[in-house]
Amino acid sequence: MAPTTAARTRAAFLLPIFLLAVVAWPGAAAAAAAQAGGYRVVSVARAGGVLSARLQLAGGGARAELGPDVQSLSLTASLETDSRLHVRITDADHQRWEVPQDIIPRNPPHHFSLAASTTNTSPRSRVLSAATSDLTFTLHTSPFFRFTVSRRSSGDVLFDTSPHLVFKDKYLELTTALPGATASLYGLGEHTKRTFRLQRNDTFTLWNADIAASNLDLNLYGSHPFYLDVRSGAGAGASHGVLLLNSNGMDIEYGGSYLTYKVIGGVLDFYFFAGQTPLDVVDQYTQLIGRPAPMPYWSFGFHQCRYGYKNLADLEGVVAGYAKARIPLEVMWTDIDYMDAFKDFTLDPVNFPAGPMRRFVDRLHQNGQKYVVILDPGINVNETYGTFIRGMQQDVFLKWNNSNYLGKVWPGYVYFPDFLNPRAATFWAKEISLFRRTLPVDGLWIDMNEISNFIDPPTLNTIDDPPYRINNSGVHRPLNNKTVPASAVHYGGVREYDAHNLYGFLEARATHGALIADTGRRPFVLSRSTFVGSGRYTAHWTGDNAATWDDLRYSINTMLSFGLFGIPMVGADICGFSGNTTEELCSRWIQLGAFYPFSRDHSAIGTIRRELYLWETVARSARKALGLRYRLLPYIYTLMHEAHTTGAPMARPLFFSYPKDVNTYGVDRQFLLGRGVLVSPVLKPGATAVDAYFPAGRWFNLFDYSLTVASVTGKRVTLPAPVDTVNVHVAGGNILPMQRPAVTTSRSRQNVFHLVVALGEDGEADGELFLDDGESPEMGGEHGKWALVRFTCGTGPGGGVTVKSHVVHDSYGPSRKLVVGKVVFLGLRSPATKGELAVFVNGVKAANSTTGRAAALGYRRGGGVAQVTGLSLPIGKEFELKVAML
Ligand code: NOJ
Repeated sequence: MAPTTAARTRAAFLLPIFLLAVVAWPGAAAAAAAQAGGYRVVSVARAGGVLSARLQLAGGGARAELGPDVQSLSLTASLETDSRLHVRITDADHQRWEVPQDIIPRNPPHHFSLAASTTNTSPRSRVLSAATSDLTFTLHTSPFFRFTVSRRSSGDVLFDTSPHLVFKDKYLELTTALPGATASLYGLGEHTKRTFRLQRNDTFTLWNADIAASNLDLNLYGSHPFYLDVRSGAGAGASHGVLLLNSNGMDIEYGGSYLTYKVIGGVLDFYFFAGQTPLDVVDQYTQLIGRPAPMPYWSFGFHQCRYGYKNLADLEGVVAGYAKARIPLEVMWTDIDYMDAFKDFTLDPVNFPAGPMRRFVDRLHQNGQKYVVILDPGINVNETYGTFIRGMQQDVFLKWNNSNYLGKVWPGYVYFPDFLNPRAATFWAKEISLFRRTLPVDGLWIDMNEISNFIDPPTLNTIDDPPYRINNSGVHRPLNNKTVPASAVHYGGVREYDAHNLYGFLEARATHGALIADTGRRPFVLSRSTFVGSGRYTAHWTGDNAATWDDLRYSINTMLSFGLFGIPMVGADICGFSGNTTEELCSRWIQLGAFYPFSRDHSAIGTIRRELYLWETVARSARKALGLRYRLLPYIYTLMHEAHTTGAPMARPLFFSYPKDVNTYGVDRQFLLGRGVLVSPVLKPGATAVDAYFPAGRWFNLFDYSLTVASVTGKRVTLPAPVDTVNVHVAGGNILPMQRPAVTTSRSRQNVFHLVVALGEDGEADGELFLDDGESPEMGGEHGKWALVRFTCGTGPGGGVTVKSHVVHDSYGPSRKLVVGKVVFLGLRSPATKGELAVFVNGVKAANSTTGRAAALGYRRGGGVAQVTGLSLPIGKEFELKVAML
């Protein structure tokens, strides 16, 4: 049949779109050809620093099978800060679902923005820019609407949308071109990936699901539609970030030269972060989504857990096993085994009886140890169960078809608290508080909160099964797969369809609030499911990995990704969760896991036990690696403060410190703790050496200061890595605050401090130490009691070195009692003659005195290492320590 006139006109009209797409977005050309679309700009206005435009559907729309197109769209673009651009596109005539304000608080476009100006660079475009912003926004008006975001200082185009915009009720699509050769992308989680850097021709599906982390490339427990883009080429290292603030299910297709968002609801709400260092990007990102919660000091100790501990005696045996093996155990955990028939807030009266459990927890506490238990969101439907009865009385459960939605999890049939309902948070807090009267747990582990459901609810309508099926579970499963129905209804009439990805966030917020209210102390919450901003409330573990060498390796990718997502407190199940581990794997895993920000051994029921003391080689690895972790606790805790105040990840990819070194962009078998501690673990069976990349500079092995690597431009080095050894190096230029380790963090905290001064090529180094009581709700801040001390070191013309401390802030009393007892210098230049060294403290030859008291003082030197011991320099008092070459 001949095409109708209307169809012919439409085809002629659509042709230019296709041509444009071919020219600007070669990778997406085929897709664009098959699916036309696009909007015309019908009006543009500027008010203050906000550019707004009205867009009208051009032609007949696209992909009719996905529903009718929205006719009229409104766009606003505003430069909200010097480093943040906000671009929002939504239906001009109807309100749509958006991430609620209380989840990510943000101001309406006109509320604040830079004093921006717009210019007409051509009749076809309007540019929004501001003197202080490196980002510019360009609205292209002809022939169809599209926009670009550019970096003013370099002219680089950062985001470059195709005119093929699709906006329907249940399907939004937008494509941006990327310079395939020079853009390295990271983020877009949560997935287990083979590499940290995103690989082209991959689809990133975001729909929170209880899918084991041992599965590659599937949508896992959390949703983070954020990526970091690091550019190589001229000006290498220039980085920016892009967030699509949207909680609906989506596929993000990355083709190398393009990125396409296919989203099944909400609005197109983009935030662009100017960088331009990677650290700047996470700073700007967490300024919007919220800074990471401070974690209590104790949570940086080592944690032991298992699904399948049989009874209290089993727990006691594990605690004793660690003590006997002299492996530090800070926190003992219990999985669902402790519960009575898997009911939250109950104790199994036979195997984990209340009285003895209480005494067990008291004993842990007397020992300076902590206790954490799991909670699942599903509340067992059971008329004899107090928590259920109170939940019903308060009407807190998620609804479906006008009654409570009945799901099934460990305890059997359950209702799920609807954490969008403020009453649910109150209910939850009350239950936690009641439970803590029985068992004063120190932190809470919230699991199964995607929500995981053992029932597959039926798909009844286009909410449960919308016309565009995202690639759920890798095979386009319906949204309802193993979760609650998308057509379930939350408080305020909110559809699960829209709020699904928020559940873990909301439960973490409620749990965090409950713990603060009940304990008055800094909460520790560990959540499996997360969303943008979850870092404000919770830590995260990477979920159900398997005891394989691949899983060991991939754990670095997920850990680094969560650093970008503003959830720096992250780690994987050490020794592997499912399957049977081996002695060698477990040994290598603790060598890596000792440097995860969150360091916990956990395993699945029915698998062989894997407590670290069970094999002698593993115990040796653990003592060694955890020994260094505990020595580094002051440094690690200072990183927590940095994360809390600037969003900086604690575990970082190498390019965070070496953004100009393009060789670092693909490194994901090593990582940095903070700025300058490089961990190069063994990730292969049978290996006794590790091939490691060292960026330019000098690197000192933290287990043996005489082992150094010097690299002028960055190089790969094969390092020995015997079975009990992990390679950890500090980069020249860093001063690490360390402490003599003890078996618990509370005891470590009393010990004398050591400074390790790793001199850079220029003979300089600096570092920081943050101190507080480790458990006050606030970390730093106006009202907190804390100390921040900055250390700097310089080298004089004769080769002598001087370390100075500068007390930036000190309202923490104990800082005057805690002392630096030892300073180790690494990378000293050898004196021309074999002269002696002399040590001066605050200008006085220290052989006579340090802080006024007589003190023994010694130093050893050799191989560029000098060690000054016997010092007693209070942290809270500024000092100057000089090592002179005589
Ligand atoms: C799933 C969690 O991911 C895992 O860590 C836990 O052991 C089991 N649920 C049992 O609670």
